[in-house]
Amino acid sequence: MTAAPYLGICYYPEQWPESQWRDDARRMAEIGVREVRIAEFSWARIEPSRGEFQWDWLDRAIDTLTSASLRVMLCTPTATPPKWLVDEAPEILAWDRHGRPRRFGSRRHYCFSSPRYRNETVRIVTAIAERYGQLDAITAWQTDNEYGCHNTTRSYSPAAATAFRDWLSNRYGTASALNEAWGTTFWSQSYRSFTEVDLPNLLVTEANPSHLLDFYRFSSDQVISFNRLQADILRRLSPGRPIVHNAMGFYFEFDHYQLGLDLDAIGWDSYPLGFLDLAELPTHIKRRYMRQGHPDFAGFHHDLYRRCGRGRWRVSEQQPGPVNWAPHNPAPLPGMVRLWGVEAAAHAAEAVSYFRWRQVPFGQEQMHAGLLTPANEPAPGFGEARCAAADFASIEARAVEAKVALVHSYEAHWVFEAERQSAGWSYPALLLEWYNAARRLAVDIDIVAPGDDLSKYSVVLCPSLPIISEDAIGAFAATTAALLFGPRTGAKTSVFHIPDEMPPGPLQDLIPIRVVRCESFPEYYVATGQWEGQDVGCRIWLDHVESEIKPIAQTADGVGLLYEHGRVHYLAGAPEPAFLASLIGRLVSKAGLRTVELPEDVRVRRSGELTFAFNYGPNDVTLPAELFAHDPEFISGGQTLSPASFSIWR
Ligand code: GAL
Repeated sequence: MTAAPYLGICYYPEQWPESQWRDDARRMAEIGVREVRIAEFSWARIEPSRGEFQWDWLDRAIDTLTSASLRVMLCTPTATPPKWLVDEAPEILAWDRHGRPRRFGSRRHYCFSSPRYRNETVRIVTAIAERYGQLDAITAWQTDNEYGCHNTTRSYSPAAATAFRDWLSNRYGTASALNEAWGTTFWSQSYRSFTEVDLPNLLVTEANPSHLLDFYRFSSDQVISFNRLQADILRRLSPGRPIVHNAMGFYFEFDHYQLGLDLDAIGWDSYPLGFLDLAELPTHIKRRYMRQGHPDFAGFHHDLYRRCGRGRWRVSEQQPGPVNWAPHNPAPLPGMVRLWGVEAAAHAAEAVSYFRWRQVPFGQEQMHAGLLTPANEPAPGFGEARCAAADFASIEARAVEAKVALVHSYEAHWVFEAERQSAGWSYPALLLEWYNAARRLAVDIDIVAPGDDLSKYSVVLCPSLPIISEDAIGAFAATTAALLFGPRTGAKTSVFHIPDEMPPGPLQDLIPIRVVRCESFPEYYVATGQWEGQDVGCRIWLDHVESEIKPIAQTADGVGLLYEHGRVHYLAGAPEPAFLASLIGRLVSKAGLRTVELPEDVRVRRSGELTFAFNYGPNDVTLPAELFAHDPEFISGGQTLSPASFSIWR
């Protein structure tokens, strides 16, 4: 990827009088928009009644945009099945975990497993792709919109139950194999056939964790196959146009690595202030970054989706001002709307598309900002998006060769959902803490899937990987990188049992330790100890390890906190931030990588020969001199950054 990133916009022609379209298109082109995403919620306008297609408005909308030299990303409208379809075929509805069908009136009310909805999807996607697939104006496709949004990956409908039984039968072959795998002898749960198995909801108390994990795996697979259904049609009827889906932030309910295999590029929807408000973070952090977003949220997702899209990724929706859906919806600090766009470009995004063109005065999202106000006047985001487009022109989006990798597994999240064992245990929080500790050292990070080739890395960080596949252990064994594993790694087999050899299971091939007991702590307790003469602590969790090797950090009463065996390290608990920072710092410098301790609000990213620095803080900061290997040639900003600003140098 070496092209400059471009500016995109999310636009809903069906929500505005046609007389306004031409002027909209002209103004979009004027501020540097290159591609306009349309139609993801327009099924009822395209097909108001079964078989009565109304294409004329969409033909004219596409025409209007292309006459202004704009390209069009056309979306399939499957996120919003229309009322007539729901009434005709209520079996397409998803059911919530309380066993209630979802109703019509918002969006994403369909069930991924409904055979009827899959047929309807094939029908509408084929119709759209047949009509527009060969147009030069259509330069990309988006499938659906935000799979899983509003907690919709997992459906508990009769259609889901039927599909789950088929899925189990494919996986296990016989009911007795399933009984064995799930350990159904516990609480007399044995099944005589797959048809006896239900979905794991509405139970008196906790479900069998193997049952839960399989249901989560199945639900993820249903999203993947639903998307593939669409991608196959688009690829056949509209060859040569990239197929993209817009994923979400902090959403782990389906496997996005798998999704990416059926796409040409992946997008994600970046709403830094909404995410911060929803996150479980200390109040002082939320206060500090209320108008900027957490300095690591965007970077983490950029790096994650870069991996999911196998290098081709974009921001499909970028927050333009206050949103409507978080508990509180502050306005961004002036400069942030531009900064977020440029930060995506620094992580090699191919496009950044702001959501949305104009704030809509009706419907559910009327309090969500656009680049324009409902009165069609520029909102603060308008000028900033225009500046971002100008910034993009001087940036070659080129991924850098990161030397530090962070292993992230979707399945790990599902295991911990099925068995939390500590109210304080949060896999997403753990990932972010580890990402933060490394990123504060000004190193670039790749996020990788378990089993990815690790040979090019110097340091590999694995916050927790409860199920270690053969591929994953192979990749860990094959690299010469320093490896750091967190607690609960190797704690389960693929069918959710404690391994015969005890945790960390297959990791014992790399480090001779056995976890013989685990305990979890309330938030007010820290297991404190010593490491290299420093006071250190672990929270939330403690694996008690038996080993012939001595821990290199331990509590006063001799409980090991950190084990080292050559290049392999195992942390028995969730380290306090200072401990984690020192430990990762030591591994990274020992590996010969250059580190710079960044000021707390600053993040740095390299791209090709450019280095970017971003100030997320409320105050001016001067970048540490060690960041500059020689006299920097600034192409934007300088060594001192005001709040919500960035600099770029060669
Ligand atoms: C996204 C969604 C958009 C819009 C936006 C509002 O999650 O894809 O359709 O709802 O949020 O912030």
